[in-house]
Amino acid sequence: MITVIGAGKVGSAAAFDILRYKISDVILIDTNENAAKGEALDMMQAAPAIEFDGQIKGTSDFSEMQDSELVIVTAGLGRRADMTRFDLMNTNAQIVRGIVKEVAKYAPKCKLMMVTNPVDIMTYIAFKETGFPRCCLFGMGNILDTMRFRSYIANEIGVSREDTRALVIGEHGDSMVPLVEYASVSGIPISNLLTNEQLERIVHRTVTSGADVIQLKGSTIYAPGSVIAIMADAILTGRNRVMSVSTSLDGEYGASGLSIGVPVVLGKEGVEKIIELDLSEKTKEKFAKSVATVKEAIAALKN
Ligand code: 2OP
Repeated sequence: MITVIGAGKVGSAAAFDILRYKISDVILIDTNENAAKGEALDMMQAAPAIEFDGQIKGTSDFSEMQDSELVIVTAGLGRRADMTRFDLMNTNAQIVRGIVKEVAKYAPKCKLMMVTNPVDIMTYIAFKETGFPRCCLFGMGNILDTMRFRSYIANEIGVSREDTRALVIGEHGDSMVPLVEYASVSGIPISNLLTNEQLERIVHRTVTSGADVIQLKGSTIYAPGSVIAIMADAILTGRNRVMSVSTSLDGEYGASGLSIGVPVVLGKEGVEKIIELDLSEKTKEKFAKSVATVKEAIAALKN
């Protein structure tokens, strides 16, 4: 069973993709019970069309999450186009503190995926509040940035997005670090296929990609929703996918005392392994700045 907490646009899109990909039954929890029930009913009515014979239930009762293998927290305010993800921090911190206490109470053995922004800070808060082991607690951030990076690379070169692979590390925010040196098309380094000007443009577009969508339509929906489902699939089916997620560091990459996006093996136990990459000095500096940015935000958290 998967529980999605927050029946807003991202939570509902994620729940529907989890059903569509036949990953799991879903409990959709929201303090607005009608919203949760309405989303669940709408999805159930689509079930024949997506050939889904499982269960989707909407409720405001947190106890319904018990026995969930994976709990996904999407509840909280979304940002406006003129805001950074950090602008949401203290408001969403209060919401998340209350929610993760319920998760620890009703699903103490679950894997806990944070989505609420700023996701690195919310993952850190969840880690502190729940005492969950590092493997069982992570945030959906850079894997979404990575999908965007891959799309922009593939579109620029004019090749399949499936053959395009990449990684983004760091904050899920303005200081993120798209790794050009680790991006390829079927193993061919993208620096062999794109000019420096093209690479710089794609990296910039990746960093602003969330805000670009929000500017046009007010919120991102399909990209985060589908990426959450991919992470859920990796965990429930134990596929050991390699992707960049927000993880609590304890010395890896020379950092500790925060959660931030790094490449991990994501499988049955959650974060099975943190992968430490060889980084150029320039990339190390960019990652260090991202670590500092997240740590400054943590220091500014109101208790
Ligand atoms: C995004 O970038 C919601 O932070 C998420 O779309």
